[in-house]
Amino acid sequence: MTKVFAHRGFSAIAPENTLAAFRMAIDAGADGIELDVHMTRDGEIVVIHDEKVDRTTDGTGWVKDFTLPQIKELDSGNWFAEAYAGERIPTLAETLELIKDTGLRLNIELKNNVFRYPGIEEKVAKEVERFALQKRVIISSFNHYSLRYFKLYRPDWQLGALYAAGLYEPWVYAKHLGVSAIHPFYLAAADEVIAGCHTHGIQVRPYTVDDPGEMSRLIAANVDAIITNVPDRLMKLIRSGE
Ligand code: G3P
Ligand code: MG
Repeated sequence: MTKVFAHRGFSAIAPENTLAAFRMAIDAGADGIELDVHMTRDGEIVVIHDEKVDRTTDGTGWVKDFTLPQIKELDSGNWFAEAYAGERIPTLAETLELIKDTGLRLNIELKNNVFRYPGIEEKVAKEVERFALQKRVIISSFNHYSLRYFKLYRPDWQLGALYAAGLYEPWVYAKHLGVSAIHPFYLAAADEVIAGCHTHGIQVRPYTVDDPGEMSRLIAANVDAIITNVPDRLMKLIRSGE
């Protein structure tokens, strides 16, 4: 059965990558949450999509140049809607605390394809292990050197290789890299790609799928999860058997 992963939380109705968006995903009944992490100047793991804080907060500048106390002063909700004023950029630890007593999976996307953030793999792994949540966590990244590093560092963890287009027989590459899943842009998840991956024991979780027609195609192809901004729409389709 295809699982429903809320992209940056329930980001259609709440500011992305905030605890509010994660609570809404939990309340909506999603199976999992996808989020993005960067590292601050003082080495803390924070949940935000862009390298800069400008688009999703009232501040300006690179995440890597803020300390945690400084970045915590920023408002990460008001840009989306006044009702969310006062939201803060969450730490990974705060997010783990929120989901630990739910059954939800957590897809932590390491945003280390622009800045490498040396040590981010170890910091993320140790934070997740502090909450004993490693079995429910999937680590993904567009930086496949980082995924390879993670594979050697924590061989048993579930890893997903993010990519945008056109890999030929990606299951061959996934096995070479040592990941258990591919996380392709949904237009790269052709039916033959999904079937080939499943034949070879590789899971498929396409992103970011909000179009009902594409959702139905991917459900019919039996992808393992779909990452979407509108988990309610996807759940209805899955329940209705379309
Ligand atoms: O992890 C899937 C998806 O989030 C990758 O793209 O830019 O939304 O982080 P992006
Ligand atoms: Mg992401």
